[in-house]
Amino acid sequence: MTPERRPLIAGNWKMHFGGAAGVELAQAVAQLAPALARVDLVIAPPFTALAACAHECEGRRVQVAGQNLHPGDAGAFTGEISAPMLIDAGCRWVILGHSERRQLFGEADAFVAEKVASALRAGLTPIVCVGETLDERTGGRTLEVVSRQLVAFLDVIAAAQAPVAIAYEPVWAIGTDKNAGPAEAQEVHAAIRRHLGGKSAALASRTRILYGGSVKPDNARDLLAATDVDGALVGGASLDAASFGAIAGAAEALAAR
Ligand code: PGA
Repeated sequence: MTPERRPLIAGNWKMHFGGAAGVELAQAVAQLAPALARVDLVIAPPFTALAACAHECEGRRVQVAGQNLHPGDAGAFTGEISAPMLIDAGCRWVILGHSERRQLFGEADAFVAEKVASALRAGLTPIVCVGETLDERTGGRTLEVVSRQLVAFLDVIAAAQAPVAIAYEPVWAIGTDKNAGPAEAQEVHAAIRRHLGGKSAALASRTRILYGGSVKPDNARDLLAATDVDGALVGGASLDAASFGAIAGAAEALAAR
């Protein structure tokens, strides 16, 4: 594993913990950080809690991510938030192309690619999500779908020379307590890395590929031990600091071996 592929454990809070409770959760995560020196920790609170959480985490080895952005820097886009605004709120990261955005809000591959470009222009590190639905998996189309989603933003990340993380999140595993087994995850992660390598060896060796979809303290170790799994994007289990800490602890123990 290259130094750029330090384990990354990111918590996607979704539409939870938007106010004072969010700051408390951020503080609890920050308290875990000293015991997790080999792991990068990121939390993605709702927009309304970003600045307060970023303030809480300042200097404490926990960085803050937006859960989405609009690709424009400013303008008449009611209800949207831009990359420079996320930077201004103290974010260093942004989650893009989450399957909930793709499925519930109709975000297409090309729009996700525009968002990735905008994030990189502003100096945010994107965590770009890809993943297949259950129908696509049972139809044997997993690798085809994931490569289509990846190819849409591959040129953008290859040109940027800046770090990017990709999260493989099988849609059928999100919030369902069904997760891909380590071998299933590894197969897709390896395919993603091969694609990156087709662009450039440097891109393949610097890009962290996270697994997401029902990652919990009891399955984290096996998933994180897979060769091409460089961390986790955690939804439900990130809403409890002890569970999030246990997942990050599994990454820490593996990195210490
Ligand atoms: P989950 O969510 O861990 O609750 O399955 C993961 C995600 O949607 O990023």
